[in-house]
This record gives sequence, C-alpha cells and structure tokens, in this order.
Amino acid sequence: MNGDFSFDTVQQFDDHIDLSIPTYSNLREAILRLSTSFVKTDSTVYDLGCSTGLLLSLLANQVPGSVRLVGIDVSINLLQQSSDLRIERHRMDLASERFRLTPTDLVFSIFTLQFLPVIARQSVVDKVYEALEPGGAFIVAEKTFIDDGLIQDLFTFGYYDMKLKNFTAEEVLDKQLALRRIMRPQTEPENLKLFTRFARIFPFWQYLHFKAWLCIK
Ligand SMILES: C[S@@+](CC[C@H](N)C(=O)[O-])C[C@H]1O[C@@H](n2cnc3c(N)ncnc32)[C@H](O)[C@@H]1O
Repeated sequence: MNGDFSFDTVQQFDDHIDLSIPTYSNLREAILRLSTSFVKTDSTVYDLGCSTGLLLSLLANQVPGSVRLVGIDVSINLLQQSSDLRIERHRMDLASERFRLTPTDLVFSIFTLQFLPVIARQSVVDKVYEALEPGGAFIVAEKTFIDDGLIQDLFTFGYYDMKLKNFTAEEVLDKQLALRRIMRPQTEPENLKLFTRFARIFPFWQYLHFKAWLCIK
C-alpha cells in the first residue's frame, strides 16, 4: 500500500481486505452458508458495496445459474477488478435517489453502510426492506463504535497489533488518516435502530468491534 488509501486507487483489494479485517474469511464462509437458505432458483441477490464482486462470485459457485447476481458499487476502480461474467455490475452511489432494487430474496451490505453519510443510511435500509420478499434476508456487517471508552481503546489497540503483522506502522497510520475522512462507524444500538422493521435480527459473527447481523423480513 503506497500513499493515501482510497477505494478509487487501491489495487489487489481482495487481498487487502483479507489482511485488514480480522478473520474475514470466516465471515465470508458464514455468509455463504447462511445464503443458501434464502436463494431460490429465480432469486435476485444484491451485494451493496460489492467492490470486486468476490462474494457474489463465490455465491455463484453454489447456486443455480438462473439466479441473478447484482453488484453495486460507487468505485469504478473496484468494479473493474472483476471479470466474472456471471455478475451484473452497476456503478451507483447508494446514497443517491437513483438507487432502487427490484424484488429480491437476499441482500448483502458488508462493511459498506459505514461509508455512507449517516443521514442516508435509514433510507438505504428501508429500500432494502421494501424490496425483500417476506422471509428474505439482509446480511449486514459493520465496524462499530463501542459505547465504553475503555473497551473501545482495548479493541482499537488489539486491532492495530493485528494489523502490524501485515502492514508497517506508517501504512497503518496513513490508512487511519485516510479513513477518518470517509468512514463513520456507529454504535451497535445505532446500527440496530436501522434494522427495526425486520422481524428477526441476530448477530452471527464478531471480531473485536467488527460485527455482522442476519436480518430476516
Ligand atoms: C470496506 S469496502 C467493502 C467491500 C466488500 N463489501 C467486501 O466486503 O469486500 C466498502 C465498499 O463500499 C463501497 N462504497 C463506499 N461508499 C459507497 C457509496 N456511497 N455507494 C456505493 N458503494 C460505496 C466502496 O467503494 C467499497 O467497495
């Protein structure tokens, strides 16, 4: 990683995120295992903030070819890092009025809401809820803020220790400075408030302050 971190310039993003988010491969595996219970032969599946489309590519290997897989991301750099023809890729800002979904059984948002303006998040989740068929699922992961200063500090420095295994101290600091301008994590209660319309909300993965929930309509 050289210079300022940006989704518009980062290369080998899939390797980068694997090294940046603790036990990310376990999270991806859990998402894929859960997904099979929601996908039908004629389903549409969305990945909001799909980056290179890796998650949808892995899902494509375990669902019928008739399933429509749609990835949405604002970064042309990341969308171009995928050449998987099984995935429809759309460049779009999720916070824009133009963002709409067709009826769907499964929607992913994996470490994406945290990059949207806080004020835009409820509308995005509401659009997901309204597009989901009854019984459909929204699988969300977010970096959270812990509502306890001591624990937040412990988790942050535990996270830095883990990152220093893969990145130099300068790279870790540079990325923190860049993320400060574009990432706004919220506390767990603030995130859960976004999902209140769902009939079932259950956490299924956590590492330090990184957390994922399964929300079923
Ligand atoms: C931390 S990455 C996660 C990527 C992917 N979900 C994953 O888990 O590998 C966040 C993604 O959200 C995308 N993103 C950020 N803001 C966005 C916006 N306003 N609209 C659409 N995508 C956005 C970024 O381009 C990036 O691909």
